[in-house]
Amino acid sequence: MRALAADPGVGPIASARDLVKTYGKGEAVVRALDGVSVDLEAGELTAIMGPSGSGKSTLMHCMAGLDSPTAGSVVVAGEEVSSMSERRLTRLRRDRLGFVFQAFNLIPTLTAEENITLPLDIARRRLDRDWFDTVVDAVGLRDRLDHRPGELSGGQQQRVACARALISRPAVVFADEPTGNLDSRSSAEVLGFLRGSVDELGQAIVMVTHDPTAASYAHRVLFLADGRLVGELEDPTSESVLDALRELSPAHAQPARPGRHADDVVQGAVAR
Ligand SMILES: Nc1ncnc2c1ncn2[C@@H]1O[C@H](COP(=O)(O)OP(=O)(O)OP(=O)(O)O)[C@@H](O)[C@H]1O
Ligand SMILES: [Mg+2]
Repeated sequence: MRALAADPGVGPIASARDLVKTYGKGEAVVRALDGVSVDLEAGELTAIMGPSGSGKSTLMHCMAGLDSPTAGSVVVAGEEVSSMSERRLTRLRRDRLGFVFQAFNLIPTLTAEENITLPLDIARRRLDRDWFDTVVDAVGLRDRLDHRPGELSGGQQQRVACARALISRPAVVFADEPTGNLDSRSSAEVLGFLRGSVDELGQAIVMVTHDPTAASYAHRVLFLADGRLVGELEDPTSESVLDALRELSPAHAQPARPGRHADDVVQGAVAR
């Protein structure tokens, strides 16, 4: 196994401490995060679950430097994110983080290959052909590299997006409902790839999902409710995830509606 990110064994690759995020003021204030602390390890796939509005996307956005917490701290790959200037944040996102969102967000006029290498082109970094080949073979897209997104299935498009997230060897990949728009077969392909990139390439991935089957691909599931961490499950199965969801919140045992905020930020995440 080859580690992608910072030195292995030097503690978590990303951590949040006592994160608080409020939106609005006075009577209308929303406490989206209410004191959340988490550690993400290299070589671990972490799933985040919880009812709609529980703060999942907000937590991801704060950890990825896409949104700034009201209080608390975030450290990614040894760097304190919460106090960074906008300029350094942009560089951190570009060089050290990968993003996968529900709505693939590929550039329609570019081929699969051009979409995958786009982050390197933007950063004016040289393509490591060996790494490109490793990632392309891992997502199984070798024979689709010349296709444009419109000529690919949803699952294939999301695998292109996954390859794009991995191409710059990020410290952490943030995936907000990566299978939210996919049927069960395509979901299984994408999740298999995400889990494989963790087990075989040492990637750290954090993934928001409403789907217990998707969560069962993770090493660990964190449960959020009302902006707080309310539970955690190691080595989950779909059954144990469903049981935990029922126990934590009987009213929310059914998957909630998919998220909305991811689309608003992906443009910035990819294009910057
Ligand atoms: N930009 C914003 N302005 C005001 N309130 C916001 C903003 N973003 C999120 N919120 C609020 O913060 C809370 C948490 O939102 P968040 O998007 O993190 O939830 P979520 O768990 O991702 O939900 P979903 O499963 O629907 O995607 C919600 O009450 C939401 O309305
Ligand atoms: Mg969300």
